[in-house]
Amino acid sequence: MPQSRPAADGFAEAMVAGLSGQPRAVPCRYLYDSEGLALFERITELDEYYLSRTETALLAAHGGDIAARVGTGCRVVEFGAGSMAKSRLLLAALERPSTYVPIDIAADALTLAARRVSRVFPGLTVTPLAADFLRPLTLPPEVAGGGPVLEFFPGSTIGNLAPIEARDFLRRAARLAAPAGWLLVGVDLAKDPRVIEAAYDDVQGITAAFVRNLLARANRDLSADFDPESFDHIARWNARESRIEIHLVANCRQSASLAGRRFRFRRGDTIHVEDCYKYSVEQFRWLARAAGWQPEAVWIDPARLFSLHLLALPGGA
Ligand code: TRP
Repeated sequence: MPQSRPAADGFAEAMVAGLSGQPRAVPCRYLYDSEGLALFERITELDEYYLSRTETALLAAHGGDIAARVGTGCRVVEFGAGSMAKSRLLLAALERPSTYVPIDIAADALTLAARRVSRVFPGLTVTPLAADFLRPLTLPPEVAGGGPVLEFFPGSTIGNLAPIEARDFLRRAARLAAPAGWLLVGVDLAKDPRVIEAAYDDVQGITAAFVRNLLARANRDLSADFDPESFDHIARWNARESRIEIHLVANCRQSASLAGRRFRFRRGDTIHVEDCYKYSVEQFRWLARAAGWQPEAVWIDPARLFSLHLLALPGGA
């Protein structure tokens, strides 16, 4: 059942644990409450944030090719469904998909977006699943059996996992799709660091507001008393690890209380919020193979910003 109470998703525990540890770090999924989702939607419209529009263009351009490869009657399972704008493009391109299972941790937004999708595609069974897709999943019983599974993981969200975690995720996804299935996954490509840094630190400060929303959310949901503005948003490219590292950095000495505890920060202390790994096509294929997938096709935009990989289960379709 969808759960909307903030306490249910472990936010309080994650904040306390994350701020007590060294280095301080809070898992990025807590950025996406309804405020966070709204800010993220604005990020996807920014000039600097090439990821969403490039992936959308790839889906629009190659939807027919994708549909021809995966065939008719797919059960589409999406990890981290968000607003489902890209899902709609994919569903429209496919030949008679039977079922759509959007999975997202933000239960309220999930229910709303799923309702909109079922209005647009009357023949489609839409079964939203409010869950953390990083944990082991089973498909709802009413979805088990039927056509091949097409898993969809857009947005380069896979880049928010460290490579080992990404491999483990890909293995679980393979198990979920077995015996016959596909995974269509959007992966941001490694490129000029200036282009990447700008995508995660836009001039309008929308990304900074999105990241600071972690603290604002703690104030709203957990009655904490952070001053989000006294933390700077920093996005720094780490070439060795091929990732952009996102931190909140205290810009003055301060303290904040949360769940009966007091957390102290000196100027320059950081809270690590997220890493976004960037891959070459070959690096990502290697990871996919290590997780038991067969690279089937890849689509890349002319400027070589973003890649959309179709992976198949070797024994499958
Ligand atoms: N999956 C998105 C990405 O890696 C998430 C994202 C975009 C993000 N901008 C962000 C996460 C800023 C944290 C901070 O591009």
